[in-house]
Amino acid sequence: MTDLFTPASPLLRPFSAPPRLLMGPGPITVDPRVLRAMSVQLVGQYDPAMTQCMNETMALYRGVFNTQNPWTFLVDGTSRAGIEAVLVSMLEPGDKVLVPIFGRFGHLLTEIAQRCGAQVHTIEKEWGEVFTPDEIEDAIKRVKPKMLAVVQGDTSTTMLQPLEHLGEICQRHQVLFYSDATASIGGNPFKTDEWQLDAVSVGLQKCLCGPSGSAPITLSEQAVETIKRRKHIEAGIRTDQHQAGKGRIIGSNYFDLGMIMDYWGEERLNHHTEATTMLYGARECARILLEEGIDNVIARHQLHGDAMAKGLSAMNMQLFGDQQHKMTNVVGVYIPDGIEGEQIRQSMLLDFGIEIGTSFGPLHGKIWRVGTMGYNARKDAVLQTLVALEAVLRRAGHDLDANAGVDAALAMY
Ligand SMILES: Cc1ncc(COP(=O)(O)O)c(C=O)c1O
Repeated sequence: MTDLFTPASPLLRPFSAPPRLLMGPGPITVDPRVLRAMSVQLVGQYDPAMTQCMNETMALYRGVFNTQNPWTFLVDGTSRAGIEAVLVSMLEPGDKVLVPIFGRFGHLLTEIAQRCGAQVHTIEKEWGEVFTPDEIEDAIKRVKPKMLAVVQGDTSTTMLQPLEHLGEICQRHQVLFYSDATASIGGNPFKTDEWQLDAVSVGLQKCLCGPSGSAPITLSEQAVETIKRRKHIEAGIRTDQHQAGKGRIIGSNYFDLGMIMDYWGEERLNHHTEATTMLYGARECARILLEEGIDNVIARHQLHGDAMAKGLSAMNMQLFGDQQHKMTNVVGVYIPDGIEGEQIRQSMLLDFGIEIGTSFGPLHGKIWRVGTMGYNARKDAVLQTLVALEAVLRRAGHDLDANAGVDAALAMY
């Protein structure tokens, strides 16, 4: 056992990441600015520098989410931590929730809501399609849920569910409206207040240029009221001034948004130890987005996403799904007949240092997913990916014209 840890042991060498261009559905290559921000030294939990950094981060994420919601903050954990925090804090056992499923992440919302004890009703679309507002309203009339929970961009299918009419429908039927916009925020329009959302959760690892590990969320007044009715403060930090909410206690301590709000709010009541390094990273992600301007960032994702899609089509391949409802930042493409999809991905990674994505469920082995997002929504990244893919595909026997992909992308630029 001790031999494992001799000075010459490979285990004691520092990890050295090989150079990679991450052109899959996320995570993507992190913006070096975010890496730099994450190397800043810690300050204490209640240091005024820390609380200022937290307040600034809240303000910056109001910009990212397009909202005035005071309760806009970070949940520590990957994107599903944000999903789980919203659902466990807002849904009580027995509550009805409607989940329209059009890919893997609708199934994830369903599973998490079921684990919260909610009565989950689903409607499903074939992967590659999205719902019309009427289809969702019909289901709302039938189910009469407390909450509609819907993914905006489902990376498993590359489809973007339009949300702009759903808030008004939810208001009319007195339904809380939650969306997981992890994969789409930053690269596609998202308007929390205008679209009347009650809760939104996201992650950093797609269009926001960061690593996974922090889940920014925003909550409407109504969402906050729903949560506060269930608020209970841990014994050990509770004082006589604290009053428990009348509702049922939230079934998770870590994801109790009531207690997390007290930590981010004026009282600064201790909950978890904030993941300070992720906070620094999340703050920088928001700064990068807002400095460039949300509309410019969306336009950049649209441009490079279109160039990638045009390039792939020109390489004698067919794009996957309803192109009218595609996310800007990732494209699905059918693996050509006779081509071994995993061998191509291996060669892209090991010979060219470029990662493209595989797929799940009914699409497994049928499509690749190629992302152009965040730091990698760039012309050079698109062109390098197309050049490498052409080389690998030709060697595998796929019939395509020389330079077809790169020429199509360059023509677009
Ligand atoms: C739409 C969507 N929701 C949720 C997740 C889960 O994110 P995480 O792996 O960060 O928990 C992902 C990850 O790809 C996603 O694309």
